[in-house]
Amino acid sequence: MLTQRPKHFEQMNLHRLHSLVQILWLLPLLQCLHVGSSQSQNAKTGKKSTDLTNSGCHRAVDKNDTLRFLVLDAGSTGTRAALHEFFVERTPKSPNEPLKLRHLRLRRYRRKPGLSAFQHFPDRSRDQVNALLAAAAADVPEPQRAVTCVALRATAGLRLLDSGSRRRILRVVRDTLATSAAFLAPDIDSAKLLSGPEEAKFAWLSVNYMLGKLDEANTISETVPVLELGGGSAQVAYEYPDGELSAPLDRASSSKATLTGRRIRARSYLGLGVRESVLRFVGYRNGKSAGTGVSKKAYNSSCIAANASLNFSFGSVTLQLEGNQRDNSSGSTAATVKKCFAQAEDLVQQVKVRTEPGIAKGEKTVYAISSIYYLVKYLKKSSPVPGARVTYSDSVCPSESRGVCKAYSISAGDIADNAAAVCRNPPDQGPYTPYYCINLSVLSAMLEQMGLPDSGTVTALGGSDNLGWTLGFSLDALLQSAAASAAKSIS
Ligand SMILES: *[C@@H]1O[C@H](CO)[C@@H](O)[C@H](O)[C@H]1NC(C)=O
Ligand SMILES: *[C@@H]1O[C@H](CO)[C@@H](O)[C@H](O)[C@H]1NC(C)=O
Ligand SMILES: *[C@@H]1O[C@H](CO)[C@@H](O)[C@H](O)[C@H]1NC(C)=O
Ligand SMILES: *[C@@H]1O[C@H](CO)[C@@H](O)[C@H](O)[C@H]1NC(C)=O
Ligand SMILES: *[C@@H]1O[C@H](CO)[C@@H](O)[C@H](O)[C@H]1NC(C)=O
Ligand SMILES: *[C@@H]1O[C@H](CO)[C@@H](O)[C@H](O)[C@H]1NC(C)=O
Repeated sequence: MLTQRPKHFEQMNLHRLHSLVQILWLLPLLQCLHVGSSQSQNAKTGKKSTDLTNSGCHRAVDKNDTLRFLVLDAGSTGTRAALHEFFVERTPKSPNEPLKLRHLRLRRYRRKPGLSAFQHFPDRSRDQVNALLAAAAADVPEPQRAVTCVALRATAGLRLLDSGSRRRILRVVRDTLATSAAFLAPDIDSAKLLSGPEEAKFAWLSVNYMLGKLDEANTISETVPVLELGGGSAQVAYEYPDGELSAPLDRASSSKATLTGRRIRARSYLGLGVRESVLRFVGYRNGKSAGTGVSKKAYNSSCIAANASLNFSFGSVTLQLEGNQRDNSSGSTAATVKKCFAQAEDLVQQVKVRTEPGIAKGEKTVYAISSIYYLVKYLKKSSPVPGARVTYSDSVCPSESRGVCKAYSISAGDIADNAAAVCRNPPDQGPYTPYYCINLSVLSAMLEQMGLPDSGTVTALGGSDNLGWTLGFSLDALLQSAAASAAKSIS
């Protein structure tokens, strides 16, 4: 029973016992030697010369203990630090059992602006990174800081900078991390861009880990496909059905997850994000032209709330948007809905969304995070189509995580019906609702193109900061590091 467990078990409300990720056979004693020697080397050279997998981010664990990983998530508007803490269970009787990582806790820290704001003053990145390291260090017991690894990954923002500025900023960050007294930073991998497919892969890992899916056999029914809508792009990742990975993965848009050796297809569709799709709908950008800074003052669309007048910014672009006047005759309304749906389909064609076997086949349930969660929650609250049901699916989240993870389910067909209702009369309350017709029609068109049938289900997960890529990134880094340590110990 929960109540009889020690306190830290109550805090680790994310997992059932059987959801432990079990991976590697470790040799704690030899590993201890390995970590010890790499540290003395660091002390001698004053530089950390190992990469992530050989860095000793994972240290010897011969009794119950806490492992941590610090991820800096450099976004366009700020840098967040996520300090993930895992409980590692070890009994003296069985020191060689597979490593089990149970997520205990996430602590978060944030600094503004985004690193891209330091384009002309890359040195200023140093202060920001140091401030985040100091804040996180205060929450880690002193003896454990030197064995806690840190890495920075840049998502939006930095990707848009010219490569020279980007390199300069990342070099400063790398130096800062390497010379930090607080945490251990393997220099090669410590600060990089995170690609769209990587983001998808780690989000897949986070969600499947949260849902307790990663402990059983390597079958697709054990893991779930994960879909995410960011500002610029949409991400999808799923485990490939057995025997279907004969075609080579194209490296630019796909990657393979390492956890438990599962083969993951992870893809990113640039252009389908909630903010980028608005730019495409109003004609600021289209599939053919990059459309940077078109001369028009104002853009309009019938797919935005009628008569709305909005300032819209995304990246370096700021536009004035207007929702067109409408007459309410049924013919005209139907034409508007048709037009918005056609635009959504065009967009999906432009970015070449494919049938995704992990969604078109298998369980026909997609697990969705980020914006999609808020959209589905909105449909639950406001039911644009009476009877188009959104159900609160409490049981999806493991029992320990109730109250942390929340889940709402809706069929793909009902998303389409609701999208049509919202496009018929886009709501105009609040800063985001004027765009819901665009958000929902793009989501609906994308699901259809990926192959989710109308009867398929979208289960939207939210309510937890672990439902992003940083948890999966930390898990992957710790486990790879453990694998490298074990391999090194054996050889
Ligand atoms: C380690 O944790 C397990 C599970 O919580 C517990 O049963 C065991 O008693 C702990 N061992 C030690 C030495 O504290
Ligand atoms: C809908 O689109 C708007 C405009 O791009 C965006 O700001 C908003 O976050 C989206 N809403 C949701 C719930 O995704
Ligand atoms: C939009 O503006 C027109 C003309 O001013 C007006 O007739 C119409 O009722 C307005 N529509 C909405 C939804 O406010
Ligand atoms: C949009 O921006 C302009 C210029 O910055 C400002 O005058 C206007 O009030 C803003 N409109 C809205 C709706 O915020
Ligand atoms: C939308 O903007 C175009 C010019 O960009 C204009 O010709 C058209 O009349 C506008 N439509 C409405 C309904 O306001
Ligand atoms: C159309 O319907 C909307 C919502 O029912 C209403 O606010 C608007 O005033 C109507 N516009 C016209 C032109 O009748």
